[in-house]
Amino acid sequence: MQKIIIANWKMQKTDQEAITWCNTNKEELNKLIENRLKIAICPSFSALDRIGTIIKNTQIKLGAQDCCPQERGAYTGDISALSLKEINCSYCIVGHSERRKYQCETDEIIAQKAEMLFKNNITPILCIGESQVEEITDGKFKTLEHQLNLTVNKAYAAKKKLYIAYEPSWAIGSGQVPSVESLYKTVNWIQNYITLYFHGLDYSLLYGGSVNESTIQDILNVHDIEGFLLGGASLDFQTLKKIVLLL
Ligand code: PGA
Repeated sequence: MQKIIIANWKMQKTDQEAITWCNTNKEELNKLIENRLKIAICPSFSALDRIGTIIKNTQIKLGAQDCCPQERGAYTGDISALSLKEINCSYCIVGHSERRKYQCETDEIIAQKAEMLFKNNITPILCIGESQVEEITDGKFKTLEHQLNLTVNKAYAAKKKLYIAYEPSWAIGSGQVPSVESLYKTVNWIQNYITLYFHGLDYSLLYGGSVNESTIQDILNVHDIEGFLLGGASLDFQTLKKIVLLL
């Protein structure tokens, strides 16, 4: 199975830094990809177009970190899926826990975003994941079900591919990752949920949250995880390269 890496650069690099990174590393990264895996870079909105031009003749794909839930109109500060399509974005992250937390995004809004992306043939990467409290109090699967339901429904209705990134919010940027046992249980739960309610859905499962060259070793044993959403570990090319070489 061809693995995928989504490099979520959040707001960690300025546009100029992101451009320099791509100019410096695109050839080597492209060689590493060699038709055996997929990699998408998700820089800030303002750098997307220029980075798209830099990686144009490579196998590196362009991804956005978010999009507007509406098609067009009076939505100051928002960026439409249509605009993302115009600059050849292949992927777009929706429902990242930082957006759920800081922008108060609801599952309804996230599902609307996914719908806009499907309309424009951009593959959404839906982030789901429980908080530490939900993990401890057994509320985890209820949370995952809520976070999945509406967006998976949209993918099912549109008959489009969906990436589901399981990212416990307590694992993001913390250096902690779930145990392999717990990951197996969660992956199984998601697979059963989809089979039960959305049989035939075209989806892939990713894992995100403190993935680096050491933590990934155990996670690679969970074979149904088809890729990784990397934050911190995708910023430095040498670190990213070490991870890519393990896949
Ligand atoms: P991290 O971030 O790899 O830095 O934990 C992952 C994410 O937020 O997508």
